Amino acid sequence: MGKSYPTVSEEYKKAVEKAKKKLRGLIAEKNCAPIMLRIAWHSAGTFDVKTRTGGPFGTMKKPEELAHGANNGLDIAVRLLEPIKEQFPIISYADFYQLAGVVAVEVTGGPEIPFHPGREDKPEPPPEGRLPDATKGCDHLRQVFVTQMGLSDKDIVALSGAHTLGRCHKERSGFEGPWTSNPLIFDNSYFKELLSGEKEGLLQLPSDKALLSDPAFRPLVEKYAADEDAFFEDYKEAHLKLSELGFADA
Ligand code: HEM
Repeated sequence: MGKSYPTVSEEYKKAVEKAKKKLRGLIAEKNCAPIMLRIAWHSAGTFDVKTRTGGPFGTMKKPEELAHGANNGLDIAVRLLEPIKEQFPIISYADFYQLAGVVAVEVTGGPEIPFHPGREDKPEPPPEGRLPDATKGCDHLRQVFVTQMGLSDKDIVALSGAHTLGRCHKERSGFEGPWTSNPLIFDNSYFKELLSGEKEGLLQLPSDKALLSDPAFRPLVEKYAADEDAFFEDYKEAHLKLSELGFADA
């Protein structure tokens, strides 16, 4: 779908640039890039293309949405972000949470994802149950990413590469451990680890392993494991689409 971005004021643009710097500082100080990326993704990934509800519109700070099972632990991200958000009242939460995701990828060595401001905060949080279930396989991933969000098979595999960052926490998701041995670096090691099989100390979710068994997904896993530039290119495109679901559609 074509995009027609809203015009924002010079003051707004300046605030975004300043906020970006503050976010870089916060992420460096707290090593919190993974949870910043997770809050951006969980904000956007609730988009439903048929009803045009959910999506990256600033509702994650609401207690109802934070109480969704899939969002366990994201209250920490909201809390970490609040002191910076307070300094920039002009910026919407919708833009701010997506900006945090873009900065998290950039400062950990990933691709620079274009950021277009102008999302408005919406009053209604999405219903629970729109984010993917880690215990399920390819049909479920396609149901969530393709049918619900309107993304593609390629986007599913590229975006799954975000698990190069961070880890699972038993008390948040029931799973425990990182996907890679350098979980604060954004690179293509998620795909390399996925192909090399299970290893002590590292984790693969059922939804990660599902990428290996599907004839459309597996060649992309192999391509991204062999070619980091190709991964970064497709990740950039997929993350941009994710961060703009339901925003600025022409
Ligand atoms: C494909 C379907 C996906 C499933 C089933 C899934 C599931 C999960 C689970 C269970 C966790 C662990 C949460 C915790 O215990 O703290 C997690 C963490 C994470 N996910 Fe995903 N995820 C998916 C896709 C994505 C996407 C598309 C992104 C971003 C583009 C992403 C980014 C992350 C990050 C960065 C973490 C680490 C958070 C931290 O260390 O605090 N995930 N994911």
